[in-house]
Amino acid sequence: MKKIAVLGYGVVGSGVVELFYKNKEKIEKNTGTELDVKYILDLREFPGDPYADKVVHDINVILSDPEVCYVAECMGGVNPAFQFVSSCLEAGKSVSTSNKQLVAEKGDILLQLAKKNDCNFFFEASVGGAIPCIRPLHTCLAGNDISAVAGILNGTTNFILEKMFCDKMAFDDALKLAQELGYAERDPSADVDGADACRKVCILASLVFGKHVYPDSVYTKGIRDITLEDVQMAQAMDSAVKLIGCVKRLEDGRILPTVMPMVVPNESLISHVDGVFNAVMVWGDGFDKTMFYGRGAGKLPTASAVLGDIIDCVKAEHTVTSHEWILADNTDFIADMDAFCAPRFYRISARLDDAAAKAADELGLKITTACSTQGNDDSAAFGCIVSACDNKTADAFTKALEDSGISVLAQIPVLAD
Ligand code: HSE
Repeated sequence: MKKIAVLGYGVVGSGVVELFYKNKEKIEKNTGTELDVKYILDLREFPGDPYADKVVHDINVILSDPEVCYVAECMGGVNPAFQFVSSCLEAGKSVSTSNKQLVAEKGDILLQLAKKNDCNFFFEASVGGAIPCIRPLHTCLAGNDISAVAGILNGTTNFILEKMFCDKMAFDDALKLAQELGYAERDPSADVDGADACRKVCILASLVFGKHVYPDSVYTKGIRDITLEDVQMAQAMDSAVKLIGCVKRLEDGRILPTVMPMVVPNESLISHVDGVFNAVMVWGDGFDKTMFYGRGAGKLPTASAVLGDIIDCVKAEHTVTSHEWILADNTDFIADMDAFCAPRFYRISARLDDAAAKAADELGLKITTACSTQGNDDSAAFGCIVSACDNKTADAFTKALEDSGISVLAQIPVLAD
């Protein structure tokens, strides 16, 4: 019999233990190995919990027990998770983690440690919760040249935007509801300001493009500036506003990783991903594009991915190297926002006039959509979408509109499929 240790008995850790015992027989049949959870590491005691007798407080108990071959790290944060995971890998114990901050900041080091010690460091649960997206990227889709990945990587912000979109809630009210329902953190800034999605972009970018992408290399903008009026104008243009995490390879070979609110036309499947669900769209030369969809957070959905990794650890005889990446000198590898190019959505104070159309023409922009709406109180709102351009051109168009007496109330990039 081989033993599992679970680090952290919070929402995800307790989900891993619960799901393991619920499906133990099936998991053992799948792996062909008898398995049990021997230890649960946590600072707290859990009197009355059915697995309270497994709780230990000292990582050395786990490190020094040769029966423990597999470790599920569900603590979150970089410290002490990094020290604990490093020590487990050094002891030859494979680790499965749900901790995106750990992978985004230390993934390269931990993958090298796993390789050195002929064990595995797996992190399917760190992006998209239950959605299988990490493993397909380096197994099922491995025969392709992948050029871009984009998606909805944060359930909390997607819930807030949907409430604004469907129920016409203001941002603050939607955030309050997300907190009441337990989706958002008590301090929701990691969700709302994009840091959580940024970490997930780092992991996807590192995996797909083979060099470690650190969080400070990702242009990150959250959804705090998005207003109900923006969402309603996008809706009038058959689109939705979504927080999109994206990384794409540019023509010069560099990559551009970003997190920002984008207007997503309804023709894109991504625009229909609502509530706390996540979706990851991948573009590649052989398969064109494919989308992974499912629950991106929560106790059992995340536990499902952690357990899937444990099962793969049991089956793997050696280190699986197809998902490793190397340390990068990011200076040449990652482009900055000067290289960003996308169609733009403008919410404006008045109907586009001849002067605005002439300015667009002079800047080489095509006005692809122009829209006006009438509110119940007879107030009118105006918007337009212009063809793909860089930030400089988008700013020049803003200036031209302002010069002709039209105020730009919002400018949001559009996700082109
Ligand atoms: N706070 C995250 C979200 C949890 O809302 O998606 C999963 O990473």
